[in-house]
Amino acid sequence: MRKPFIAGNWKMHKTVAEARALATELRDGIGNAPHRVAVAPPFTALAGVVEALEGTGIEVAAQNMAAALEGAHTGEISASMLLDLGVKLVILGHSERRHVYGESDELINTKVLLALEQGLEVILCIGETLEERESGKLKDVVVHQIDSGLRGLDEKALGRVTIAYEPVWAIGTGKTATPDDAEEAHRIVRGRIGELYSAQAAESMIIQYGGSVKPNNVKGLMAEADIDGALVGGASLKAADFIPIARFDQ
Ligand code: 13P
Repeated sequence: MRKPFIAGNWKMHKTVAEARALATELRDGIGNAPHRVAVAPPFTALAGVVEALEGTGIEVAAQNMAAALEGAHTGEISASMLLDLGVKLVILGHSERRHVYGESDELINTKVLLALEQGLEVILCIGETLEERESGKLKDVVVHQIDSGLRGLDEKALGRVTIAYEPVWAIGTGKTATPDDAEEAHRIVRGRIGELYSAQAAESMIIQYGGSVKPNNVKGLMAEADIDGALVGGASLKAADFIPIARFDQ
């Protein structure tokens, strides 16, 4: 049985005080939810949110990480800096990193391997653009992003990876994939994990859906057999929206 995993990606939102206030509301509203729950504040608010959520079941993730351990990398944040703050998870390969900041498959793969080696868990984001979907390339794109993102990773380390399928056209647009469309993509992801690793690895892989997840559509998505969680952007910024998402079945 796969345990549902709901994560909130706050992107470039919230000052330290705002982030702590939201974390406190989530602590009171979600507390020890039956599902796995995580939030990913911006780097500057990580320490404050870790402190605010201490002792709750809510985990804290970073939104990105450097591809190097340390050194002359102006503006970057390393895995050990994240671990030092009490961060346990990192989101890698988000579509905004790929498409706005030009991160390549190779760079993302380097980060995935490094994060796992350093002791972080990873949420690896993948997903096709509208153009790719409309030209029938959904499967090719998803398979390619999985193959390149996980290159060099053994099955044991794979156990610390969550995959987030986030179709680029559904991110921040209010246009959610239908549960059927999302399920189709999730089946491709799970099938590919089975081909690359084992039936057991495919069966236990947690695959989140991301892209305009809201309180009113989360239930339908989560009802699909291969949708194990959600990676939530806009609706994770308000406790009144994120709490019912995290408690989607209550
Ligand atoms: P939205 O929920 O705002 O569409 O963002 C999704 C996302 O990119 C989460 O990582």
